[in-house]
Amino acid sequence: LLQDYKHYMLKEIFEQPKAIEETLLGRLSPNEVNLPELEPVLNELPVKRLRKIDIVASGTSYHAGIIGKKVIEQLLGIPVEVAFSSEFIYNHPPLDEHNLVIVLSQSGETADTLSALREAKQCGCPVIAITNTVGSTISRKADSTIYTKAGPELAVASTKAYTSQIVAMILLSIRLARLVPDSPGTDHIPSLLEALERLPEDVESTLIMTQDAIDQFAQVTYDQDHLFLIGRGLDYVLALEGALKLQEVAYIHADAYAAGEMKHGTMALITPGIPVIALATQQQVLNKVISNIKEIKARGAFVVGVTTIGDELVGEVVDEVLYVPETHPLLMPVLAAIPLQLLAYYSGTVRGHDVDRPRNLAKSLTVE
Ligand code: M6R
Repeated sequence: LLQDYKHYMLKEIFEQPKAIEETLLGRLSPNEVNLPELEPVLNELPVKRLRKIDIVASGTSYHAGIIGKKVIEQLLGIPVEVAFSSEFIYNHPPLDEHNLVIVLSQSGETADTLSALREAKQCGCPVIAITNTVGSTISRKADSTIYTKAGPELAVASTKAYTSQIVAMILLSIRLARLVPDSPGTDHIPSLLEALERLPEDVESTLIMTQDAIDQFAQVTYDQDHLFLIGRGLDYVLALEGALKLQEVAYIHADAYAAGEMKHGTMALITPGIPVIALATQQQVLNKVISNIKEIKARGAFVVGVTTIGDELVGEVVDEVLYVPETHPLLMPVLAAIPLQLLAYYSGTVRGHDVDRPRNLAKSLTVE
């Protein structure tokens, strides 16, 4: 079952081109996406009076949800709130039938997310689920479900299910943007669809381009207790996910910061030699991130930059640079997630941990 891989986590990281291809299969057409499974909800959706969209999820799925928020807000111009399932249950915003609720759960069984779904239904909201597990409780309780087609994920750390969730969120956002009158971001749709077509190939290239360099850098983390990840916009969301992976698999105290916020406090934690991963894949904030990197470098941090092929600026200010292929900015978090997943994997193995079954954690959390 493991084929030539030492661990399920590594195998699943390498299965991402296939997982994404399967998730896209039959769903892309030249100017639209096909999601017939959503029709029951979409037919009833008060599209003209859709006030707000709420996204609810836990852990890694929550991070896919924040990316979903940014995509929906850009394409639809409708405000989106993202909540941890465990918080939403007791403390959700006012909700009624004019709020669409999207729940994300790889397993489809997470107790917190299931309770949040029930709460949303009780408030009268239409609910769409995104899950990787056919027939799961969440898929049965939601009004409609989009399945990611990542295949079984056995390692506790979510990798291929996560990137497939982002893809499903983007498909859903495009479908909604085509439905909701006067969506301001519909001009993005053709280029986004084109980039989605190429995505499995780009993911494959990213794996090839980053694996060896990340394996080497991971050796440096052998005796590190702290590591920071910084980024702006979508790169910040990605930093949150990278930090969670490193905590979960490598047991490193990894923390994510919005790059521009460092100067408001966190900079005091930067000491000579501390490893910092600087994510710099979003062109519109690149210069700002470069300034932030320089500030951190000036305090002696060891900075690894992640940027896109062709960029010549980031390489000049960091200690090491990793390149990923260029794609639509909204899809960059899929590509740039890969070196972070590989880093968690190689750091976990070099530090001698059971990367497939990290201590104190379970794959499916069926208690609140
Ligand atoms: O099955 P779910 O997506 O609902 O699980 C939610 C979290 O427990 C899960 O994403 C967890 O954070 C992962 N193990 C992280 O890799």
